Amino acid sequence: MIDLTKLAEPGSAEEELLRRIDPGKLPRHIAVIMDGNGRWAKSRNLLRVEGHRAGIASVREIVETCARLEIQVVTLYAFSVENWKRPRYEVATLMMLLKEYIRREIGTLQENNIRFVPIGRLEGLDASVQRELAWAQEQTAQNTGLLFQIALNYGGRAEIVDTVNRINVLLREKGLDDFRVDEEFFSSHLYTANTPDPDLLIRTSGELRISNFLLWQIAYAEIHVTKTLWPDFRRRHLYEAILDFQGRERRYGGIDENDAEMFVEAGEMPLEE
Ligand code: FPP
Repeated sequence: MIDLTKLAEPGSAEEELLRRIDPGKLPRHIAVIMDGNGRWAKSRNLLRVEGHRAGIASVREIVETCARLEIQVVTLYAFSVENWKRPRYEVATLMMLLKEYIRREIGTLQENNIRFVPIGRLEGLDASVQRELAWAQEQTAQNTGLLFQIALNYGGRAEIVDTVNRINVLLREKGLDDFRVDEEFFSSHLYTANTPDPDLLIRTSGELRISNFLLWQIAYAEIHVTKTLWPDFRRRHLYEAILDFQGRERRYGGIDENDAEMFVEAGEMPLEE
């Protein structure tokens, strides 16, 4: 098991947080709704796009930290199907920042053995963005460490609809009219096929909403909402989120093991297992 305290300066506040994290109970998949870039910029009398630019430093730090913590998957919500409603200039800047990020960070992704995979209705993005994404995905395809999924032109409902349609075509092609789809089969045809569901969903900037993110996959995720705005979100905030997660009791619809024993002793059978 990794010695987490090695990731921080001795005696630092970060080391103190890391000391409290149980390396045996890390979330396998962390999903993040990066929110608050606009408010961050507004509070500094800057243009909204400056908030997005500043948010890239947080992306860099969080992705690298997840890799060091040996987290299996991190999924960042960078652009939703609804975000096209924003002013053209803002959309264009976000796409430009994304391309810039890929070119600048590809070396760091490789050094850290990170596999980069975009998810969403990628065919709806500008051809130059699609090319850049495909290039980064191909360059990092052989990496075996952290899987970094970036959700672009993404919507949870759109993903479910796309999955239904994909399965329909598949079954028709194979002439499997009577095939009964189950949850496992459905999951394995989502954009996130073959990845564990998120254990921890983080939302920055205090809003208590899911915003159409990974609707199917977050069925049992623990949700951590912080008031910190995304451009201010740093390593220590991630450690705090993980500590919050580790303090939760995850029952997946069942009951606590100790309570189950109490029922059995009293001659009752628990309703759920
Ligand atoms: C939400 O803040 C943030 C976004 C819609 C975009 C997130 C994008 C980045 C962090 C930068 C690009 C990412 C990469 C990987 C290059 P908001 O604008 O909704 O903030 P507000 O609610 O305060 O207005």
